[in-house]
Amino acid sequence: MKVLLSEDRIHAGVDRLAKELNAFYGESPLTVVSIMTGSIVMLADLIRRLEMPVRISLIQASSYRGGTRSGELVVQDQMMLDIRDRDVLLLDDIFDTGKTLFEVSNRLRQMGPTSLKTAVFLNKLGQSTVPMNPDFVVFEIPNEFVVGYGLDYQDLYRNLPFVGVLEESDLARHSTN
Ligand code: IMP
Ligand code: MG
Repeated sequence: MKVLLSEDRIHAGVDRLAKELNAFYGESPLTVVSIMTGSIVMLADLIRRLEMPVRISLIQASSYRGGTRSGELVVQDQMMLDIRDRDVLLLDDIFDTGKTLFEVSNRLRQMGPTSLKTAVFLNKLGQSTVPMNPDFVVFEIPNEFVVGYGLDYQDLYRNLPFVGVLEESDLARHSTN
């Protein structure tokens, strides 16, 4: 698999994001809302570098692409903390069309946070179809299908410590097992 982002580059990138967030929020308490499942790897690395008091909340979003109701987003928020009057940072693995981040941020805004910012590990350039950009981005990437560091293909590869581009030969392995 072609490596797009090595483990070292990823750790330097997440360090950089943590420094930006520490500077931006200072000592104010922060609630990090992490969109499952793709963002949990970055979540675990990021929160250990944050210096303010941190609360962690999980939300699940999945879109059914290729199905008959393609693109429709299903959000499960049973594990959400109360975010009313809190500073909130919404975290996702990748901003592709942007629909996930756009829809989940609209939903969180209705819960009455003091402030809402968004951060993504990867921003796929040129793919956005929504009227927003993430506030914090760790890496900009070209329009390729990537896996690793939380990102999956058919729920596999999330555990890779690097980010790789999925190639034809990797896809072929899936059709034989
Ligand atoms: P969006 O709603 O189009 O921005 O897509 C966001 C979601 O699509 C992410 O949370 C991922 O689950 C998935 N996704 C988009 N591009 C990739 C990719 O290159 N690799 C793995 N998952 C991706
Ligand atoms: Mg996914």
